[in-house]
Amino acid sequence: MSTIASAAPTSRGEQLIASSMPRRRALLLLMGSLVSSLGTLCYPILRYLIPPGETNSSANDALAGMVGELKPNSGKTFRFGSRPALLVRLATGEYRSMSAVCTHLGCTVQYRPETQQIWCPCHNGCYDLNGRNVGGPPPRPLPAFDVEVRGQEIYVSRKQVA
Ligand code: FES
Repeated sequence: MSTIASAAPTSRGEQLIASSMPRRRALLLLMGSLVSSLGTLCYPILRYLIPPGETNSSANDALAGMVGELKPNSGKTFRFGSRPALLVRLATGEYRSMSAVCTHLGCTVQYRPETQQIWCPCHNGCYDLNGRNVGGPPPRPLPAFDVEVRGQEIYVSRKQVA
């Protein structure tokens, strides 16, 4: 009986402190969950708006494919560093290669044999076989790569700036 009486707040100040503790704790929990929810909402938006850095895309050459893998007038995508790239075998049998990252908003482009152009499906952007932007919203050409056949392997490399 005496322990219950001694645990109860005796003064007005103690009563105020005792009654405000659960409210403070609830407020802290609410603030914590709001910050957590805000972070959960903002992270994917920021990841979408801020493009990833170029840290892993600095490879200077890459194996694009094997001789005989592509029939004339066809293309394929492959990884060049951390980015997609495009290898095209023209109807003449010649190879071309360029970045497969659209210069408009970064979608992956593809080769279209029926038009013999490079096409971006996101907003109908078109590039010619040299990577020049020839239709739709892309503002710049696709960076072109050098192609070298070494035995049965096809390598591409970044063009050397003279
Ligand atoms: S992202 Fe390629 S045309 Fe818009």
